Amino acid sequence: MEVYLIAAMTLDGYIGRSATDRSFDWTTPEDKAAYIAKIKTTKHLVMGHTTLKTIKRFPQGTICHVYTRQPDQFDAAGLSQAAEYQPTTESPEVLVARLKTQGVAQLAICGGSSIYNQFLAAGVVTKLYLTIEPILFGGGVRLFSTLPASCELKLLTSQTLNSRGSLWLEYAVSHKNSPHANKT
Ligand SMILES: NC(=O)c1ccc[n+]([C@@H]2O[C@H](COP(=O)([O-])OP(=O)(O)OC[C@H]3O[C@@H](n4cnc5c(N)ncnc54)[C@H](OP(=O)(O)O)[C@@H]3O)[C@@H](O)[C@H]2O)c1
Repeated sequence: MEVYLIAAMTLDGYIGRSATDRSFDWTTPEDKAAYIAKIKTTKHLVMGHTTLKTIKRFPQGTICHVYTRQPDQFDAAGLSQAAEYQPTTESPEVLVARLKTQGVAQLAICGGSSIYNQFLAAGVVTKLYLTIEPILFGGGVRLFSTLPASCELKLLTSQTLNSRGSLWLEYAVSHKNSPHANKT
């Protein structure tokens, strides 16, 4: 099963100026296009409740696994009707194992910071799609805030998206020494 993390990051390592920031407000049109093209191929998305509140649209038929510590109080009113929302408190390992038994082949980890770091630390992420935008925030929400010590990356493809030099990078993730390493 492919479990990929997808994010846009500033050159100094931030994914947002604040927790309530919308990525689409500062990323380039070319990154938005690349992001949407990738997400459209994936039915199952994972995100934290904070990030969900910043997203207005989903591809039709998306199943959105929303992390919230109050799943009973989760309210989909006002959210896009194109997606189905499944609130969860499962650990990354349990969620990935459950979806795998259901035959899910691809899962996109869409943020924010807390979710990226929990899935990376759990050793279940197999790929990373990262856009590096040529902009510096000088502060904000970091992509990698609690780095897993044993995570190694291998660059598979790289593409320059525009004349500003926005970079689309595809990495394979190796969790060699992690006790939770993805064996799929
Ligand atoms: N540039 C990008 O590509 C990109 C992509 C996505 C997000 N972002 C940015 O990321 C920032 C938001 O990140 P964030 O870390 O503050 O928020 P987040 O990860 O989106 O959501 C945090 C929320 O998720 C829930 N949660 C987290 N861990 C959980 C667990 N183990 N079990 C159950 N629920 C859990 C909690 O929701 P409850 O409060 O409901 O319990 C928590 O408040 C924003 O700036 C956003 O723009 C950037």
